[in-house]
Amino acid sequence: MTFTVVTHSSEETRKLGSLLARVLRPGDVVLMTGHLGAGKTCLAGGAAEGLRVKGHVSSPTFNILHIHEPLEKGKPALNHFDAYRLTGAADFIDHGFDEIAYQDGITLIEWGDRVRHALPGSAIELAIEFGETDDERVIRLTFPEGRESCAVRLRQMWDGKETGGR
Ligand SMILES: Nc1ncnc2c1ncn2[C@@H]1O[C@H](COP(=O)(O)OP(=O)(O)OP(=O)(O)O)[C@@H](O)[C@H]1O
Ligand SMILES: [Mg+2]
Repeated sequence: MTFTVVTHSSEETRKLGSLLARVLRPGDVVLMTGHLGAGKTCLAGGAAEGLRVKGHVSSPTFNILHIHEPLEKGKPALNHFDAYRLTGAADFIDHGFDEIAYQDGITLIEWGDRVRHALPGSAIELAIEFGETDDERVIRLTFPEGRESCAVRLRQMWDGKETGGR
């Protein structure tokens, strides 16, 4: 099931990231696609805020992976990947990254399409495309079978029908 929204600022994209964090569960993998400067890191920053994890989310391009531990014990960590510099799924696996993606944290992968074959088939897809103006982004989330309720909840929250906690 897909959920599509148009954001008009980086703040709005961050907000979407923080709302997304509320519907994600430990072990979820989000495969993010979108060109340079689309807003992948921006959205990941919002997700980190929503998940209440430690540290500042920045582009992990040079490290490939940043692990943000939860502020509150027992909550999931955020594994923030940037696969831009990897050559493909085999490279991802050779680094042992697939093991991290299959653990209990929440995993967001920028340029995730490059390593798609190393990821669970149940990954959530998040595509960001440029809109008609400089600040417009079209963000499409596709949830796998069995997770349709996530799209519904996200839609409700985005439309302002629900603002409460997890
Ligand atoms: N609606 C919007 N959503 C997100 N970012 C926006 C939006 N409008 C403008 N921007 C700007 O676009 C840029 C997005 O940068 P960001 O680092 O998040 O992109 P990215 O997809 O992670 O790029 P890269 O592929 O280089 O990692 C920021 O400078 C941000 O201020
Ligand atoms: Mg980035």
